[in-house]
Amino acid sequence: MRVLGIETSCDDTGVAIYDSTVGLLANQLYSQITLHANYGGVVPELASRSHMQQTVPLIEAALQESKLKLQDINAIAYTAGPGLVGSLLVGSCIGRSLAVSLSIPSIAVNHIEGHLLSPMLEDDPPSFPFVALIVSGGHTQLISATGIGAYTVMGESLDDAVGEAFDKTAKLLGLNYPGGPSLSRLAEKGLKKRFIFPRPMTNRPGLDFSFSGLKTFAAKTIYNNQNTPQTRADIACAFEDAVVDTLVIKCRRALDYSGFKSLVLVGGVSANCLLRNRLRELMTQRSGKVFYARPALCTDNGAMIAYTGMIRLQKHWNDPLNITVRSRWPLSELSAL
Ligand code: KG4
Ligand code: ZN
Repeated sequence: MRVLGIETSCDDTGVAIYDSTVGLLANQLYSQITLHANYGGVVPELASRSHMQQTVPLIEAALQESKLKLQDINAIAYTAGPGLVGSLLVGSCIGRSLAVSLSIPSIAVNHIEGHLLSPMLEDDPPSFPFVALIVSGGHTQLISATGIGAYTVMGESLDDAVGEAFDKTAKLLGLNYPGGPSLSRLAEKGLKKRFIFPRPMTNRPGLDFSFSGLKTFAAKTIYNNQNTPQTRADIACAFEDAVVDTLVIKCRRALDYSGFKSLVLVGGVSANCLLRNRLRELMTQRSGKVFYARPALCTDNGAMIAYTGMIRLQKHWNDPLNITVRSRWPLSELSAL
């Protein structure tokens, strides 16, 4: 079965084709970073207009990349939430209409489930059960996953998502949007332990997170010190260290609570090298294993949507004709297969 996946939930247009026997045949991405850079964040109206311009050419590019015709596609998967409603509507309407015109099934995919399953696109995929740490621009959650659609939230952020905290702190440090990757690069030049940031909510039991205080702590540290390139790098280093340390502490706890031996790290922030390395160390100590996707599949992409659509369609899932997109769509509301 070949599934064409369409991702338009935020500021990346992604289109991919996944073949159930061969694997990923095409993966096309158009990033809107330059479009939003001047505004320091995503402007929803500009995002949906750009998806309108890019989605169809990307579908054509994906077909060309895979040397396939539309008639070779057996099903369409599109992101239906969570995300920006105007953006979601673009991919959903194009995907659903295409499916109707080709008389093939289509499926509305949950973007977070797409991230959650993205390491399954790699050569050494995780198998259930596992603990998943989802760290993106909009979500920070620890999930107990026992099967497709069988997800229980163990803990989540009470305020800012990790990616959001990276982006806001990067902005305070004068870095461009999206700040995560640039803050991480700046941190490499930083002096370790010159500044020590708090590890929020780690000195009490539980698996919830709070990251908004770290941004305030960064703002105060910037204000109280001479604004030099080295100081900015030292602050970036202290911030990244605190975030990663906090995530590692909570992952350890979630693995203790669940008794699972596998940890799956997903979402845009899972591209972060320090986080990957620290979690690899943790899992080696515990004789377990950490799984993550290649960097291009950590941030938003069409491949994870095509793959998730295929998994659900193989279980004979087919959506009704109406198109429903959702700005909020918690994983706990998905049905287990
Ligand atoms: O999953 P994603 O592409 O979009 C959402 O669904 O939110 O995640 C984007 C987030 C942004 O906040 C970005 O700054 C962050 O992931 N990010 C990183 C890195 N690469 C992307 N944060 C830290 N280090 C990175 N290397
Ligand atoms: Zn995402």
